[in-house]
Amino acid sequence: MISSVLPTYNRAPLSFVKGEGSWLIEADGRRFLDLGAGIAVNTLGHANPELAQTLKDQADTLWHVSNLYKIPAQEKLADMLVDLTFADTCFFTNSGTEAAELAIKMARKYWYTKGQPEKIEIITFDGCFHGRSTGAIAASGAEKMVKGFGPLMPGFVHLPFGDHEALTAAVSDKTAAIMIEPIQGEGGIRVVPDQCLKGLRDLCDEKGILLIFDEVQCGVARTGKLFAHEYAGVTPDIMMIAKGIGGGFPLGAVLATEEAASGMTAGTHGSTYGGNPLGCAIGAKVLEIVSDPAFLAEVNRKASLMRQKLEGLVAAHPDVFESVRGQGLMLGLKCKVAPGDLVAKGYEAGVLTVPAADNVVRLLPALNISDEDISDAVARIDAAAKAL
Ligand SMILES: Cc1ncc(COP(=O)(O)O)c(C=O)c1O
Repeated sequence: MISSVLPTYNRAPLSFVKGEGSWLIEADGRRFLDLGAGIAVNTLGHANPELAQTLKDQADTLWHVSNLYKIPAQEKLADMLVDLTFADTCFFTNSGTEAAELAIKMARKYWYTKGQPEKIEIITFDGCFHGRSTGAIAASGAEKMVKGFGPLMPGFVHLPFGDHEALTAAVSDKTAAIMIEPIQGEGGIRVVPDQCLKGLRDLCDEKGILLIFDEVQCGVARTGKLFAHEYAGVTPDIMMIAKGIGGGFPLGAVLATEEAASGMTAGTHGSTYGGNPLGCAIGAKVLEIVSDPAFLAEVNRKASLMRQKLEGLVAAHPDVFESVRGQGLMLGLKCKVAPGDLVAKGYEAGVLTVPAADNVVRLLPALNISDEDISDAVARIDAAAKAL
């Protein structure tokens, strides 16, 4: 008999009833060090007191108002994002997938409005992940995501990861945009080298193509800069964010330049919940905390500490691990064993990690994880590797 919850996940036999900082706790009191953080969501750990207070204060004041009206909390967060980034304007969503949908619509509408409606193709790369809507799975093209779901939204061109010649050859009069994660998350913590992001920007400028960055997983201070693309010193025309910006509250956004957003006039897009006061109040608090240069410096210091310890782990278990990769606190352990096996042994050792493609186990801790918890977490992964 089918479970009351649609069984689209292979769930681990764990169930948490409480969270405290970087720890998740089961009903019997068993504690787990959480290096998944809800897959890069709980930026400031579980039950963060400042975020909880912000949520309570907003809940006592105003939960939801329609986008038919001005929403001060939404305008505040939009102003902050515009001040801190390349963007001139933002649209708020409840998830990364919804942000991807709007990014796709915005890119196509841009060219339509410019009088070039034939420019509808969006170039994406193997291993990418932009969500599970029909548009987002078409963007990915991966068989495991699209199989059985009928005709896909046309207009996506899928290229191998890192193949410059294939990219140059694929650009045509129909190309509207290139969409890429500066660091692939689900694809296995694959960092796009800075020179490649620069090359993409140059190509887009030369050919008149929009550049879309998906920073749903790698954005919002996870890499030690507010956004991962800052390392390359280039900016996109459109960017999706979600996950970390809400710190655990469902919130996403599309950020865009005025030019890229120029087709999105009144009535072209909308959302009932997107940009609601609860989500935006939390988002503004998260952003205020993580955009502080002192906070970002701490993320980098913790990231160096964790990476150093992980390098030691790789050296100690040459049969289990191949290398450490990633940027900041978006780290991956490239494995020689099945990542799922290591993750499962981790459960026994009381540490939560997340498998990804390319034989990688992801480590995406809360950005304010303590040094002590970093040491404890690596010791637990060590125990998991020994138990394999
Ligand atoms: C890079 C990237 N884009 C988009 C998404 C989809 O976001 P959501 O699950 O919030 O819809 C994800 C989720 O893992 C992601 O990692």
